[in-house]
Amino acid sequence: MRRRLRLRGEASLTLLLGAALGLLLYAQRDGAAPTTNAPRAQGRAAPGPTPGLRVFQAPDAGAAPPAYEEDTPEPPTPTGPFDFGRYLRAKDQRRFPLLINQPHKCRGNGAPPGGPDLLIAVKSVAADFERRQAVRQTWGAEGRVQGALVRRVFLLGVPRGAGTDGADAEGAGTRTQWSALLRAESRAYADILLWAFDDTFFNLTLKEIHFLAWASAYCPDVRFVFKGDADVFVHVGNLLEFLAPRDPEQDLLAGDVIVQARPIRVRASKYYIPEAVYGLPAYPAYAGGGGFVLSRATLRRLAGACAQVELFPIDDVFLGMCLQRLRLTPEPHPAFRTFGIPRPSAAPHLRTFDPCFYRELVVVHGLSAADIWLMWHLLHRPHGPACARPWPVAAGPFQWGP
Ligand SMILES: *[C@@H]1O[C@H](CO)[C@@H](O)[C@H](O)[C@H]1NC(C)=O
Repeated sequence: MRRRLRLRGEASLTLLLGAALGLLLYAQRDGAAPTTNAPRAQGRAAPGPTPGLRVFQAPDAGAAPPAYEEDTPEPPTPTGPFDFGRYLRAKDQRRFPLLINQPHKCRGNGAPPGGPDLLIAVKSVAADFERRQAVRQTWGAEGRVQGALVRRVFLLGVPRGAGTDGADAEGAGTRTQWSALLRAESRAYADILLWAFDDTFFNLTLKEIHFLAWASAYCPDVRFVFKGDADVFVHVGNLLEFLAPRDPEQDLLAGDVIVQARPIRVRASKYYIPEAVYGLPAYPAYAGGGGFVLSRATLRRLAGACAQVELFPIDDVFLGMCLQRLRLTPEPHPAFRTFGIPRPSAAPHLRTFDPCFYRELVVVHGLSAADIWLMWHLLHRPHGPACARPWPVAAGPFQWGP
């Protein structure tokens, strides 16, 4: 009975938060920040599955935007020309206060000793309550998965237009609403991290360094960290299997690795990077920001290294620069599909709806909240999907640890 009541309470809270955030989202449509990363938009067009290292195609400025399947939402892109002068002037300010913390995410308050096996960190924006719900109730669920203890946080900044400075009365009012809603959400789910910088596309690098610093401070004993976007589907079981033989004290950063990506020098491009900002012909190898996994050792070292690398407006390239500073090469993994999965030519509509496809993958990018729900439930039906091929990743049930 009590559980029933609690469930009902949770459901109405969900509805309430959902409706309130929906309204705010509607009111602020133009101000919302995107959660995906930049140069992927140019490189994504790789045809067919390409296991292992993928060479980033030279971006062609005049080309039409990459073909995105109709059932996949267009990734949000930054609006307007980017003001590099302003960015360069402001980039020494790289420490912002934490407005909402989860100090007991990994220790104390009933958390088991030793820290979680996997911390899932998802980039999100305040208005995206629906996606957070989908992630919470599907692949991002906390608890034990195959014996491994999983914890989750969402990474947020202050929504644009909510006015960090509270200049006008209206801005201050909206800000109060946002912050009240996020605080309520944090009380309900204890998974919100909110920092005091504007949640914009080009501030995702700030999100990266603040998260690395937070995780090394509050989650130092975690074994592995998965960091990704809210529009991905993660097969946590496959991810845990991949991690099982790995030692968290060894360096590891694995994902969809992009090598030899060239900075875009065309001024009209949204991803234009002037030579004064980055002079070399190619970026260091980096893992697509849609989803990658790192070990505790690498987390610690990255937090230190990134603190010394000058801010760069594209967050996954920035992380590549930190890795380069550590002389660490990201490990390509073919099952991390942060560019979205290639369209099977014969059955385009099956693309995101074939659960058998997902059984073999670790990360798939570019999904709507509905896609994520559907996939999760198809994969977790009592008998699972009837797939033609056997599951290639695992044989028999897998158990974490000795
Ligand atoms: C990043 O956030 C800071 C602090 O809120 C803000 O002043 C700045 O304009 C933001 N930068 C970008 C590029 O959006």
